[in-house]
Amino acid sequence: MTDRRLFLKTSAVAVSALALTSARSSFASKGCAFPGVIYSKDNPGRWAKKVGSHAPVVTVNGDKVQVETKHPMSDAHFIVRHTLVLADGTVVGDKTFTPRDKPVSTYTLPKGYTGEVYATSFCNRHDFWLTRTTI
Ligand SMILES: [Fe+2]
Repeated sequence: MTDRRLFLKTSAVAVSALALTSARSSFASKGCAFPGVIYSKDNPGRWAKKVGSHAPVVTVNGDKVQVETKHPMSDAHFIVRHTLVLADGTVVGDKTFTPRDKPVSTYTLPKGYTGEVYATSFCNRHDFWLTRTTI
């Protein structure tokens, strides 16, 4: 019984690791590992006409990162949230917006950080968008 449990746990860990490796590899080569779920400038899917108003615009100035979504804000249609995530999955920060906010957020990177960062923006009508930037 113990051997069977160990086998199942080991198999689950191996499958998870394989899935993560596969997703990262796919993301790196195609710009998005989840077409139809995560949209980007290079992979806008069904929202091809919405890139300019939905793909997060990332501006880096030293250790400060500004994320902006150039999207109009109204009660019926607005940017709900931004996040900034490091390549290892560490969430640097997030900001939730109301329809009366301007969809701009600013984050501070860990001291000396270099590598990729992922800025996300979620529109209540046009889904989840990601912009990848190398620091
Ligand atoms: Fe939208």
